[in-house]
Parts: sequence; structure tokens; C-alpha cells
Amino acid sequence: MYKFPDGFLWGTSTSGPQSEGVEPGDGKGMSNWDYWFQEAPEKFHNGVGPGRTSTFYKNYKEDIDFLEQTGHTTFRTSIQWSRLIPEGVGEVNQQAVEFYRDVFERINAKGIKLMMNLYHFDLPYALQEKGGWENKETVYAFRDFAATCFELFGDLVDTWFTFNEPIVPVEAGYLGDFHYPAKHDFKAAIQVGYNTQLASSMAVEACHRLNPDHRISVILNLTPAYPKSDSPEDKKAARIAELFQAKSFLDPSVKGEYPEELVQIVKDANALPEYTDEELDIIKNNTVDFLGVNYYQPLRVQAPSHTGDIDVALGLENYFDNYIMPGRKINPHRGWEIYEQGIYDIAMDIKENYDNIEWILTENGMGVEGEEKFKVDGMIQDDYRIEFIQNHLKELHRAIQDGANCHGYMLWTFIDCWSWLNAYKNRYGLVELDLETQEKTMKKSGYWFKELSENNGF
Ligand code: BG6
Repeated sequence: MYKFPDGFLWGTSTSGPQSEGVEPGDGKGMSNWDYWFQEAPEKFHNGVGPGRTSTFYKNYKEDIDFLEQTGHTTFRTSIQWSRLIPEGVGEVNQQAVEFYRDVFERINAKGIKLMMNLYHFDLPYALQEKGGWENKETVYAFRDFAATCFELFGDLVDTWFTFNEPIVPVEAGYLGDFHYPAKHDFKAAIQVGYNTQLASSMAVEACHRLNPDHRISVILNLTPAYPKSDSPEDKKAARIAELFQAKSFLDPSVKGEYPEELVQIVKDANALPEYTDEELDIIKNNTVDFLGVNYYQPLRVQAPSHTGDIDVALGLENYFDNYIMPGRKINPHRGWEIYEQGIYDIAMDIKENYDNIEWILTENGMGVEGEEKFKVDGMIQDDYRIEFIQNHLKELHRAIQDGANCHGYMLWTFIDCWSWLNAYKNRYGLVELDLETQEKTMKKSGYWFKELSENNGF
């Protein structure tokens, strides 16, 4: 039996833009995703946009009942900035205030610990038009949005997150094509990363100032990077990959400063962001109270095939290449490697290098395409998901035995939800959603998760 410490939290994570649904309306403004879908619907799997999801915005009362049925003791979602403050700055949408207050009250009434995130890849389009995260104005707008949330909802939420996986919009939107504005600009990527960190630190400051007993953190996908071989070149590539993808937000968030090695690499590429000493002080003085950690798959890297001078048009390929490990275990549906030990390795890194700060596993999960085919007598028999969770929990349990300061496990996700360009391709939920009828049905894993929570282990 794998028993977890008393009070260990069990739950799921989702986000506002992925679950609320409904086209802009009811006072909601346009987000970067609403805009992108309007401009280029063909980019989205089967042409399904952010308006089509479980429509939590309309059906939240029924959805919240599923939290109980699946044994949640904690739950995370996010406030949509473009719903609360449609233009990004200025007027607050009162319908949004009523909606979020009612949601939070109902979750609190069930005795479920509510964790609230402020930014899950969704920027009001009015700010995007002015340069988005490349522009410092967005940083100040986020600080004000965060402060508005602390003031409006502080009596109902005491555990906050500033950003979910802040490295993802940097990579996917400024070095790749998966997030708007889909630019390829290394210098802009560095500025966006820095501005996002500054915004996060400013929100931490506002939270502690307005509600001193509240706790706030950031959710980071601390993907470990493993080198292809023991050669110094491959090891260096792995070290740099980890600096960019994990430490670039982990160090300033927890230690208040960037790793020197990373700063030097960025300096050598002539890509240092615009910053002031006063901003660096804000980052230094406003570290997080605990950490949210997402883990899906490891990064396998090798020395870059590019040699010679840094080519800024290339971005991270200057420093490392990805590598597919032969014989790796994968989730055949999503194509992602399954490597449970990654959780243990992250836990030991936090223990050894980050003062064993308290953390929660805020996302881990298995996306499956065409899940209907696993349906027997009206219920999806997702034994593969149960096995996936169990195998990851074994590594988390081992880490806790070895001193990891982890206080909870949150699966991605609760009810099947919309996922950016992948839309409804991969289903992750404990509860199945029929997109056409809006019918929701517990999967086998939903019943199993309740037992897991009640037994505090398996
Ligand atoms: C996480 C994100 O990284 O991955 C979620 O925080 C996302 O927003 C999840 O939905 C799964 O991604 P995908 O692309 O497999 O649906």
C-alpha cells in the first residue's frame, strides 16, 4: 500500500479559458485565443475554438457536483483576465465578479480547498495589440489585474498562483508556432520571459501587501533535461536546456535571482532584456511561498548540430537538439514519453538546491485520442489512466519517503477540456464530456480517484 502523509491534497487542475467556454459575451472581452481562432480557425484541431468546451460558465453548478463525486479535496482553475477586465485595464465586468464569487462560494461550501491561478496563457487582446508581453505596460496591467482579484476574491481564496507554465508562451509564441503571436524572435522571447517574471513578482508583492496571511506561488513545468550520453558536449547541452526551460523561472521565483550562467549565455547572444535595478529588486524581494510543479514528460537532449557563432534566428537550437531515446516508453496517443522517475528527480532537485521549499504537484496526466473506443456499457474504461497515475504516484511516494516536501497531487484534468491548438484531440478528464450533447459521464478513473483520495493512497 502506498500511503501518503496526513492531510495530503488530492484534486485536479483546469483553467478558465479551457473550461468556461462561451464566445466573448456576458461582458467578456476578447482574449488572444479568441482572436487567433477568429483569424485562423484552420489551425485548431477540427476547427474547434475556445467557445466550445464544457461551458463551465453556464453549467458550473452541475460541474461542481462532480468535484465531490470524484473525491476532490482541492481544485485549481483560473480567472480569465479578459472576462474580469475586458480591455485588460480599466473597467471591471460585474457579471464576471458575480460568476466567480458564486463559483468560489460553492466550492468552499463543499470543503474543497480552492487554488486560484491568475494567468493560464490567456491575454486580453486589447493588450496583445499593444505588443502584449513584449511591452512593459502589460506587466503593470497584470499587477493591477492581480491586485483587483486579491481585493475582490480575497475572502474566498487564500491560495493563489500568478502564472501557469510561464515558459510555454515564451517558447510556443516567440520561438515556435503554437501560441499567438507565433513569432520567431529570440530577443523578443527573452524580453517576454523577463517581463512575465517581473509581473509574477509584482503580483506576489501585491498579494502579501493586501492579504498578508495569503499564500502565493507560480506553477512551473520543471521538465528535467537528460543528456543523450556522458560526453561533455551532451551534458553541457542538457545543462543549458534546463537553464532555459526550468531554471529561468524557478531561480528568480524561489531565490529572487537569475542563474549567473544563464545571464552570461543571454549576454553572449546580445539578447539581454531591457531592465532596471529597481525591477531586479522587486524580483529579489518577492519570492514565492511554495511551488506548483507540473510534470508530463522529460526532455532528452544532445549537443546541437549547429556550430559556430550564435544565430539568433535559430533560438534554442543554438544550444541543444532534442533527441528521441530508443526504447522509450510513450503514451501512443499524445506521443509524449512516459518517464515516471522525472518526478523523483525534480523532487530531489528542489530538496537539494531550493531549500526543500514546500510544493504541490499541480499537473500530471494522460491525454488520449479517440477515447470513446474504450467505452463499455456507457463508461470509458480508462485503466491505462489509472495505471499512469499509480506509476507516477509510486515515484512521488518514494520522493516523499526520501524527504521531498510535497503536499498534494493534482491530475490534469477534471472534465475533458479544450486544449489550445489541440482543441479536443486529447482527452485528459476523470469525467467524459460529449461535446455535442454536453452530457458528462464519470470515467472509471473518476470512481478510482475518489477511492484514492478517501484512502489517502492506493
Ligand atoms: C499543460 C497545460 O502543459 O498541458 C494545459 O498547462 C494543457 O493547459 C495540458 O491543456 C495538456 O496539453 P495537450 O496539448 O496535450 O492538450
